Amino acid sequence: MTIELENIYRENCLETMSRMPDDFLDMTITSPPYDDLRDYNGYHFPVEEIADLLYRKTKPGGVVIWVVADRTVNGSESLTSFQHAFEFRRANFKVHDTMLYVKNNPIPSDCGKRYRQMFEYMFCFSKEQPKTFNPITEPTKSAGQKIKAFRITESGRGNVPDEDIGREIKSTRKVGNIFNYNVGTSSSRDKIAFEHPAIFPERLVEDQIKSWTNPGDLVYDCFMGSGTTAKIAHLLKRRWIGSEISQEYVDIAMRRLADHVEHDKILASATTKNGRKASISRLIN
Ligand SMILES: C[S@@+](CC[C@H](N)C(=O)[O-])C[C@H]1O[C@@H](n2cnc3c(N)ncnc32)[C@H](O)[C@@H]1O
Repeated sequence: MTIELENIYRENCLETMSRMPDDFLDMTITSPPYDDLRDYNGYHFPVEEIADLLYRKTKPGGVVIWVVADRTVNGSESLTSFQHAFEFRRANFKVHDTMLYVKNNPIPSDCGKRYRQMFEYMFCFSKEQPKTFNPITEPTKSAGQKIKAFRITESGRGNVPDEDIGREIKSTRKVGNIFNYNVGTSSSRDKIAFEHPAIFPERLVEDQIKSWTNPGDLVYDCFMGSGTTAKIAHLLKRRWIGSEISQEYVDIAMRRLADHVEHDKILASATTKNGRKASISRLIN
């Protein structure tokens, strides 16, 4: 069984994962090709097998961040996102958090008698309880003041436990689980990335990798597309690995990564179309 880090394997992610040892990945962050919204040259993906394999290959305490939305078909939402969530739970993952990724500038579309669609789900599936959590925080408005809160209980307004009364409000608190990001050309400075039709906002990947991993941890993207996960993992000093079934997109990703690691060596391997993988492993460390 051979698997090299800092590679994008040009193949079905099932093949890449089948060569990984069990309990290997600290984190996966990915956006699957759902509901045939885009053709991706006809590639399809079996979510059951992917969920099972991701469970085996994730370390205890590791997480999968699964970014997905629904298509509206015949006037009704597909609920693919929730089908995926149930599938991951069947595969033994815990549904640790259901976060939302809200688009500041969604693509305008005529959505009929419904509000503009402007978010995607960002599920955090965990194998047991997450072993790492570095929460993003924000300043509080009333730092230093005493807590005067009341609590809603089953029978109405209830007392705050004695130990909480008079406790000082801290200067920071965890941000909420709704994240806002720009999409489109303001989501990355890498022009080449937009040759792929559906890229992640870089900030989204940065926030999630920082939250659930530490430097040196291994991050996987089973649908690597234009290489956003690889780029951000590299910049954050995490190890990384990816799968991408389309040679065209592997080439885009490698050309994009060339701007962030040593230029010429990456280009040399990216333009070799015969080999299965495009390697930049020797450039990292
Ligand atoms: C939504 S895009 C991912 C985009 C990526 N997050 C980015 O920032 O560029 C999904 C990608 O999955 C790839 N894909 C589809 N089926 C696959 C499979 N079975 N294994 C690996 N990649 C696959 C498609 O070619 C497409 O590039």
